[in-house]
Amino acid sequence: MKLQLAPANESSVNCTVRGSSEERLLRWGVNVDDGKWHAASCWREGARIGLTVDGTTRTGTFDAGMIVSREPVRVGNKSSSTGALHQHLGANDCSVYLSVRTPEPTPPASPPAESSGTPGACATIPAVSMPPDVPPIVARSLDLSRREGFLRSCRHETGRLLATLAASRDGTLAEFGTGCGVGSAWLTSGLRTRARLVTAELDTAMAGKVQELFADEPQVEVLAADWSALTTYAPFSLLFVDSTEPKQGGRDLVADLVDSGGMVVLDDFTPCTTWPPVYAGRIDTLREQWLTDPRFTTVDVMVAQDASVLVATRR
Ligand SMILES: C[S@@+](CC[C@H](N)C(=O)[O-])C[C@H]1O[C@@H](n2cnc3c(N)ncnc32)[C@H](O)[C@@H]1O
Repeated sequence: MKLQLAPANESSVNCTVRGSSEERLLRWGVNVDDGKWHAASCWREGARIGLTVDGTTRTGTFDAGMIVSREPVRVGNKSSSTGALHQHLGANDCSVYLSVRTPEPTPPASPPAESSGTPGACATIPAVSMPPDVPPIVARSLDLSRREGFLRSCRHETGRLLATLAASRDGTLAEFGTGCGVGSAWLTSGLRTRARLVTAELDTAMAGKVQELFADEPQVEVLAADWSALTTYAPFSLLFVDSTEPKQGGRDLVADLVDSGGMVVLDDFTPCTTWPPVYAGRIDTLREQWLTDPRFTTVDVMVAQDASVLVATRR
């Protein structure tokens, strides 16, 4: 999390929150370069983030997922050799108070207003309705993610979808890109007795740690290998494509690897209500092509307010 004074010509305050899901920036467009003292705080409570300046709060709904960092907490300006020039002019006096607290995991009786309030006044809001407990194997893989500072693990909402889909599959389920094993763990939690899971991770050291995690899971095989090594295990009844290369380019290949009636899952999309789908001001051709490819019947499933997943069934 980062609280900073914006450049001198804006004279405002920014709050950046970066988690395992993505990053979001909140701006506060009030002039704080007016010769007076101001108090600002950048905070996160569950699926809300907020920026409070002089007691007035601006909030956004954004589930950052896990916020993990191995960096030390930094207070003050960056050194003169890094960062933008305005960050080390030394023109602004400041006192910094750092407070970290864990909110009670109690949902509010009714949702608080989005545009105002104070950090103390709002409770944790789950992104979707689900019990807070996760299966033990998922908890262990999340622990590994935290220890490794790995920020790209799938979030709970996607994980529960993976587990639910896995529970409907026999045969071979596969994952391209294991990471710290969180997606694998969710899939494992839904695995039927007649199914198995194979997953591949390019980072050999990481794959080794995940292999240890799954040592007691005879239905799961973790390969330290490029995703393409898994093609020998095809056809798949479910394929979670979660590494960049096959996700961006591999629709033709994926079509050949999945059983008729088999499912392909692609994570990390931002919900969109237009057609064609738009992301960051451009047509999202990846999503558009998956949603119109005649070899698949595909749906864009919004698993949280800020996250959607494509599920495509091979015809
Ligand atoms: C988004 S993370 C995976 C997260 C994981 N599937 C989960 O649900 O928690 C993507 C992973 O793919 C791995 N990766 C990148 N290129 C790869 C490749 N060619 N073959 C296999 N894994 C790859 C990265 O090292 C990274 O750990």
